[in-house]
Amino acid sequence: MLRVRNLAVHFPTRRGTVKAVNDVSFELNDGEILGLVGESGCGKSMTLLALMGLVPYPGETVAGEVRFQGRDLLKLGRDELRQVRGRQIAMIFQDPLTTLNPVFKVGEQIAEALRVHNILKPEKRGLFSRSASGTDAIREEVIRLMEAVGIPAPEQRLEEYPHQFSGGMQQRAIIAIALSCRPHLLLADEPTTALDVTVQAQILDLLRQINQKEGTGIILVTHNLAVAAEFCQRLAVMYAGQLMELGPTEAVIFDPIHPYTKGLLRSLPYLVPKGSPLVPIPGSVPDLAQLPRGCPYSSRCELATAACWEQSSPWVEVQPGHAARCWRST
Ligand SMILES: Nc1ncnc2c1ncn2[C@@H]1O[C@H](COP(=O)(O)OP(=O)(O)OP(=O)(O)O)[C@@H](O)[C@H]1O
Ligand code: SF4
Ligand SMILES: [Mg+2]
Repeated sequence: MLRVRNLAVHFPTRRGTVKAVNDVSFELNDGEILGLVGESGCGKSMTLLALMGLVPYPGETVAGEVRFQGRDLLKLGRDELRQVRGRQIAMIFQDPLTTLNPVFKVGEQIAEALRVHNILKPEKRGLFSRSASGTDAIREEVIRLMEAVGIPAPEQRLEEYPHQFSGGMQQRAIIAIALSCRPHLLLADEPTTALDVTVQAQILDLLRQINQKEGTGIILVTHNLAVAAEFCQRLAVMYAGQLMELGPTEAVIFDPIHPYTKGLLRSLPYLVPKGSPLVPIPGSVPDLAQLPRGCPYSSRCELATAACWEQSSPWVEVQPGHAARCWRST
């Protein structure tokens, strides 16, 4: 479905060039759910934004290829990209609760998404205008979408404003907007972080249903490995702008290759067996404007050798479909 090669996003700053995404390559298979995990600031959001051509200024996608349905999205013009965005690829942005516009009714906002992409062409514009056949086509579609994402009493609730919705219901409305164009690919950036645990489970369940019913491919960004482990078929682990490990979820969780993945797993209370001590990773994440010449994890890695400091580490497939970027995996 999607093939990303050598993606790089840079931010020019006074301290130097911040390499927010550094040589990232991965694929998403048809109908697959891929988890993108890693600590805050490692480049997860920028990776998704780069796929959509939405890297914020002064950032820039300086290299890479993003193949989607036979085309390189990075080479598309603005108008062509706009056609793909929202229509074939939709994104649920991080901090979703600020995504909805507080001054428009929820129903209007879902209807607007349908209109922008000409999904249904009503005879005249204006909220829920009647089509030639006399049916209120957009209104019906909005209700169908609201029902599909589990918003109760959609006929009434489409007339309500975002502040009248709970956090979970707001997130459902955002998912309805994302799904309004029946995208092939959904990029979900921390879609449940702001929600409490029960609502979180409901939203993930909803995304899974969409994936199973519609075959929509999903890239789920989360810093919560437990959520990713439960939800995703494969996991990609990022650190300091680079992809460090990629493989089937079970293999990455139970048989990790990369020292960073191992360190991450040892430090998470919900993944460490009861009674075992938690082991934090020593040191701190390197400055993305002053990355070391070699492996960005070298200052924290107990296995680091001279090669690790000097040369960037190779991407090695250790098991079929399970690879890591580490000198020690060669
Ligand atoms: N305007 C900017 N100028 C300089 N650097 C930036 C700018 N915006 C983002 N960055 C850098 O890009 C890096 C990647 O940011 P990104 O938002 O992708 O992280 P993330 O993995 O999504 O983190 P989080 O889990 O906190 O959402 C960050 O370390 C940040 O320092
Ligand atoms: S390349 Fe070297 S420093 Fe980097 S993770 Fe592997 S062993 Fe550690
Ligand atoms: Mg982010």
